[in-house]
Amino acid sequence: MFLALCAIMVACSEKKPNYIIGVSQCSEDIWRNWQNAELRMEANFHEGVELRFAAAHDNSERQIQQIDSLVESGIQLLIVAPNQLSSVSPAIDRAYDKGIPVIVFERKTDSQKYTAFVSADNYEMGRQMGEYVVTRLGGKGKVMEILGLKGSSPADERHKGFVDALKNSGVEIVATIQGDWTEPTAYQAVKDYKGDFQSIDLVFGHNDRSAIGARKAFSERDVQLPLFCGIDGLPGEDGGIQQVRDSLLESSYIYPTRGDLLLQLALDILDGKPYPKETMLTSALVTHDNAKVLLLESDEVARQSQNLEKLQTKASGYLQQLATQRTITLLALVLIALLLLAMVLFYLYHRSKVSAQRERVVNNLWNMEVPEEVKNEEVKNEKTAVQDNSSEKEEEVVKEPLFLTRFKDVVEARLSDSDLSVDDLAAAMNLSRVQLYRKVKAISGSSPVELLRTARLNRGYQLLVKTDKTISEVAYDVGFTAPSYFTKCFKDEFGISPSDLS
Ligand code: FRU
Repeated sequence: MFLALCAIMVACSEKKPNYIIGVSQCSEDIWRNWQNAELRMEANFHEGVELRFAAAHDNSERQIQQIDSLVESGIQLLIVAPNQLSSVSPAIDRAYDKGIPVIVFERKTDSQKYTAFVSADNYEMGRQMGEYVVTRLGGKGKVMEILGLKGSSPADERHKGFVDALKNSGVEIVATIQGDWTEPTAYQAVKDYKGDFQSIDLVFGHNDRSAIGARKAFSERDVQLPLFCGIDGLPGEDGGIQQVRDSLLESSYIYPTRGDLLLQLALDILDGKPYPKETMLTSALVTHDNAKVLLLESDEVARQSQNLEKLQTKASGYLQQLATQRTITLLALVLIALLLLAMVLFYLYHRSKVSAQRERVVNNLWNMEVPEEVKNEEVKNEKTAVQDNSSEKEEEVVKEPLFLTRFKDVVEARLSDSDLSVDDLAAAMNLSRVQLYRKVKAISGSSPVELLRTARLNRGYQLLVKTDKTISEVAYDVGFTAPSYFTKCFKDEFGISPSDLS
């Protein structure tokens, strides 16, 4: 029972999450990893938030299945970056129709079935990058553009913005290469480019990884390297900011990840708080002029968040300890309560035993029932006695009801005499020792000595209950020569100690 109690308490101390949030990422790459880390970090700051991640590796079919299984698994809110504008929409609609709030972020869906949308302005990003390119090339030059995944909204919008910015300038897009956001695809597509590598002044990749892939392909050619621009501008090792600082890229554009904001928005929705239907994130161009500063700043932020993480680990360690201590205290309290209960039960049992004994004593031994077999034995003896024609025996049978009363009086009158012997009792009853024994044994089933001892103990019992006498005084009063022996006999007779009564 105690173990079961412990199990229940441990089970109760394991907290269930309040919210389960599904995160369906269209891909797995440095940008997604950064964002997932931010989501996790933010979730740590809130009690009872469980995140369930899925990454579709740029495959819309796979993302559809993953969204369906996330919904199936019982998520309460879905955060989704749809791989493509329309192909993933049916799965998003299904989730939404089941009443699950949906936050679409960064890539759009062509359905209206979503709760909130969060993104930076991809058109504006393309446009500003175009303006930068025009300026950087002095208003004239040839550009290669590497598109993002066909059908994904940032690819369309970045392209439109870029094209619009180049309009009416001397900068011309001479090559448009289909990419899919990944570095290997960009590398391969540029490698396979059949046009004139030499004439390209600048390559604009829709993201930094595409730009770096293109750079690798160009590096394998015996040509002067053009300038490379991308989008994402991630902080940290191998991020776009570092690549600009190290002149691998000429420029990038920060595409904010903001996992923290996404999670906060998710919680606001789940908590029924007011929230914006559309959130536009601000971003900025990264060039040689600001890359160093940005990197320093982002390094500082990273350092701070590492410290924060350490602090958090420490804090959750303490919380864990506290929870364990609480469980132990609770267990100890339960144990103490059980012990107290056991003690109370034992006390009650003991008391009932004492009062049962008290009753037994009150029904004093002189009224005792003669056991059936003893009675039969006695009748047999008496028949034999009658056959023996002994007039003395006949008399005994007639006087029998009085016998015990007389014997009782004799015993009780001389009870306190520790020298009282069976011979004395027999003499007082005008019987021989043997006659007394036979008679007493036949009627009561006990020997005279046994009856004498029981009578002494019963008297002792009554004295202990009714008077203030000490155990020793009582022991002597009822004819025991040693109080310790009285105590022993008392325990044997009543199952309790004399001290339980005094
Ligand atoms: C990350 C990413 C980024 C890009 C964005 C477009 O998965 O490919 O590099 O800017 O998605 O949606």
